[in-house]
Amino acid sequence: MKVAVVGATGVVGQEMLRLLENSPLGESTPRLLASVRSAGTHIRWRDEDLLVEVLDHDTVLTDLDVALMAAGSETARIWAPQFVKAGVAVVDNSSAYRLDAEVALVVPEVNPEAVPRGPAIIANPNCSTIILLLALKPLMHLTPNRVIADTYQAVSGAGRAGLDALEREVAGGEFRVDDPFPFPIHGNLFPSIGEVDEDGVTVEERKMLDESRKILGDEDLIVQGTCVRVPVARCHSIAVTMLFDREDSKRLDSALAALRQAPGVILEEDPQSPPTPGRLSGVHEVSVGRVRAPSTDALQMWVVGDQVLKGAALNTVQIAELWSAKNG
Ligand SMILES: NC(=O)c1ccc[n+]([C@@H]2O[C@H](COP(=O)([O-])OP(=O)(O)OC[C@H]3O[C@@H](n4cnc5c(N)ncnc54)[C@H](OP(=O)(O)O)[C@@H]3O)[C@@H](O)[C@H]2O)c1
Repeated sequence: MKVAVVGATGVVGQEMLRLLENSPLGESTPRLLASVRSAGTHIRWRDEDLLVEVLDHDTVLTDLDVALMAAGSETARIWAPQFVKAGVAVVDNSSAYRLDAEVALVVPEVNPEAVPRGPAIIANPNCSTIILLLALKPLMHLTPNRVIADTYQAVSGAGRAGLDALEREVAGGEFRVDDPFPFPIHGNLFPSIGEVDEDGVTVEERKMLDESRKILGDEDLIVQGTCVRVPVARCHSIAVTMLFDREDSKRLDSALAALRQAPGVILEEDPQSPPTPGRLSGVHEVSVGRVRAPSTDALQMWVVGDQVLKGAALNTVQIAELWSAKNG
């Protein structure tokens, strides 16, 4: 399989390249694409220095099988259809196509069957949605009537610019108006990610509801909560509360048993040592801790995942590997 990484210089693109070094998709050397800003630079891959090419109207899109895109929605809207037209499958990290009816939205541990045959756009879900669903899917047989998911999201979720803003402020530098956050983020937090709609719900909160419904194929599912940007470099954390119609004193045991076997999940059962972003940074699995039943009609848990990895780059590479296995 011949792979291109679009947005190869970004936070997600760099991580995809590292993953490709140990993936069957790295059999052929990947092509690296970005904007004019970084075209002509080189990135180390295995023991080679690879040239970053510009993605523009002169770029030859043929002689590729899969394009892994991490270059934002605008680039995806323009280029993903052109890759597909050239016979190249696209796995896209942006929100551009996630809710399109004809586009598969995939978390390999949750709905691998959605991966299509042939060249098509496949969407990688929102990072918090992926991390939430790895822990939630194994518990859906318990039929919660409502899921409250409050997120604590790392600055690298806003890309290189988000990480730069935190690092600059930590080093004593000033907040800048063109930073991706509307206030200084060091020593602070911001409980609103993305535009707010007429119901007062943010884009990020809406994505968790809409995308969870699509991936789980459950239009009645209710997922609501507050998405908060916190001054953490990497890894999103989610405080999840599930509410049930019926009281059940055995539900906690059943949940723990399901989570112990859940693919892509590490269950941490020592309440004194819950998963934290610092410890989970760089880890492929999502970690679940503090699982508890504060009352017989509720379950709660704390979920942490590396959003650059499982929330983006790793999930994308896993989807591409599935696509390759189906189409190889
Ligand atoms: N960061 C996360 O945790 C995360 C998680 C899930 C999903 N995502 C999504 O993944 C995508 C990338 O995010 P990121 O965090 O990696 O952002 P980033 O660090 O800001 O990187 C953006 C990348 O896109 C490239 N790019 C921008 N405009 C381009 C254009 N017109 N043509 C070609 N390449 C272009 C940039 O290249 P230059 O170097 O040339 O500027 C850079 O390589 C976004 O859609 C984001 O929403 C991110």
